[in-house]
Amino acid sequence: VTVYVPRDSAARSVGADEVAERIAAAAAGAGRGIRLVRNGSRGMLWREPLVEVGTGAGRVAYGPVAPEDVDELVAAGLLDARPDHPLHLGRTDDLDWLRTQNRVTFARVGVTDPLDPDDFLAHGGLRGLRRALELSPEEIVTEVTESGLRGRGGAGFPAGIKWKTVRQADSALKFVCCNADEGDSGTFADRMLMEGDPFTLIEGMTIAARAVGATEGYVYVRSEYPDAVAALRAAITTAYGRGWLGERVLGSDLRFDLFVRVGAGAYICGEETSMLESLEGRRGTVRAKPPMPALEGLFGKPTVVNNVLTLGSVPMVLADGAAAFAGLGTGRSRGTQVFQLGGNVARGGIVETAFGVTLGELVEGYGGGTRSGRPVRAVQVGGPLGAYLPTSRFHLPMDYEAFAAAGAMVGHGGVVVFDDTVDMAGQARFAMEFCAAESCGKCTPCRVGAVRGVEVIDRITAGIDRRANLTLLDDLCDLMTEGSLCAMGGLTPVPVRSALEHFPADFGEEPAAEP
Ligand code: NAI
Ligand code: SF4
Repeated sequence: VTVYVPRDSAARSVGADEVAERIAAAAAGAGRGIRLVRNGSRGMLWREPLVEVGTGAGRVAYGPVAPEDVDELVAAGLLDARPDHPLHLGRTDDLDWLRTQNRVTFARVGVTDPLDPDDFLAHGGLRGLRRALELSPEEIVTEVTESGLRGRGGAGFPAGIKWKTVRQADSALKFVCCNADEGDSGTFADRMLMEGDPFTLIEGMTIAARAVGATEGYVYVRSEYPDAVAALRAAITTAYGRGWLGERVLGSDLRFDLFVRVGAGAYICGEETSMLESLEGRRGTVRAKPPMPALEGLFGKPTVVNNVLTLGSVPMVLADGAAAFAGLGTGRSRGTQVFQLGGNVARGGIVETAFGVTLGELVEGYGGGTRSGRPVRAVQVGGPLGAYLPTSRFHLPMDYEAFAAAGAMVGHGGVVVFDDTVDMAGQARFAMEFCAAESCGKCTPCRVGAVRGVEVIDRITAGIDRRANLTLLDDLCDLMTEGSLCAMGGLTPVPVRSALEHFPADFGEEPAAEP
């Protein structure tokens, strides 16, 4: 019998390693031979450690399994997938949370052993790369453009257009860099993909290299993700051994070398030009754009910089064709997005579904409301620089344009939930404080503006010259939006202004009438 216990760091943080050890020991004690697979996480984080048992009728899930539950579970027939235990959840594929999702980028995450290349191949691995090797570089770029795939890092820039720019740039040396410095609070999809299916990222980067004519690639991973770093390094070593990387990839004329570089814990190194500085061995400060990294990127050479989820979506785009990917989603937001539910939420984790699902469906449907059981008051979408939205905006579809029209952003897909005890003036202050702490210091509106922002908000909440200070805050937000060199300073006013707009009472203001 095969027993699955995730190796994902979210599962490990709640005891998955000990659960795995105890299951192995209990099985040995009962004289039962088992195959223990350390899979990725299915993304139902409130149920981790989620233990699955393979049966002829599919995998059966139990969870959350604490180490001290194991002996009792084994006695109750865990190894035979018997249902007579309160932790028995039924067939994994039948669980509502998973059944209603559309897992494209995360198709293998939680299903396979992330470090087993044969498991990867058995579940459709390398189909995308094999097809890409049959196409010309132009045809690959066309395929990616027609799929409608947009940058999943947050800005949503069309991936095909970026690749075309790099492809057409005249240079003997080009790079593909993967931004895995997932710094947004409440986001963890990049980490889960790297830990749960690292070969997919390698495949996506190799396809990108083929498309643009690059020979070298770097994955820039934040140091807070040691498990992801280890998984990637192990997968890269295996990929070289199998001829999936290096000289003559899969017997073709493509040469592609891939390296992992580990950041040192600065939020700003997730900004692409800072990341390039850091990759070059310098302190991570922002470069002015233009020139775009597509033309002058790493070491001044044409460079594709894409997020983990963007590159991780590419194999499926190539394997199933542009039309299949473009067939999902709404408006100009095509395909699926891997939403991440966090904060004060009953059911936190990964929801991969086509764009167009509403914010309310994510928070109330998948998320099940707050973990505290109190009413939801605010939701922050798109990381610490994203807008705070009240429940009256729950009808909004998750779609780049719809969110932009509402003064918000989908960003990297993080959704952080707050209940009715949240102090929104405190959250606005936190946005400025965060910016002051993480600013790279290159430009004044951000470096100094954020510090002044904290002071002004403190005066407002203390009731000192409130009207004058509110005007000053508005003015400061304008200055930071218009005058900052990058999105760090430029977007910090978004959470501040949305908190003021939707929750004025927390700043001592009369609430405005709802339109
Ligand atoms: P941007 O709009 O300046 O650029 C987006 C991408 O498109 C970049 O890679 C840029 O080089 C490329 N690009 C733009 N015009 C181009 C052209 N004409 N030709 C070729 N390439 C072109 O946005 P930026 O500053 O890179 O990202 C801001 C976003 O980052 C925010 O919306 C936010 O959601 C997100 N973000 C994500 C974080 C995370 O942890 N994933 C953390 C912080 C912010
Ligand atoms: Fe640096 Fe902030 Fe200016 Fe960005 S906005 S360049 S983080 S000082």
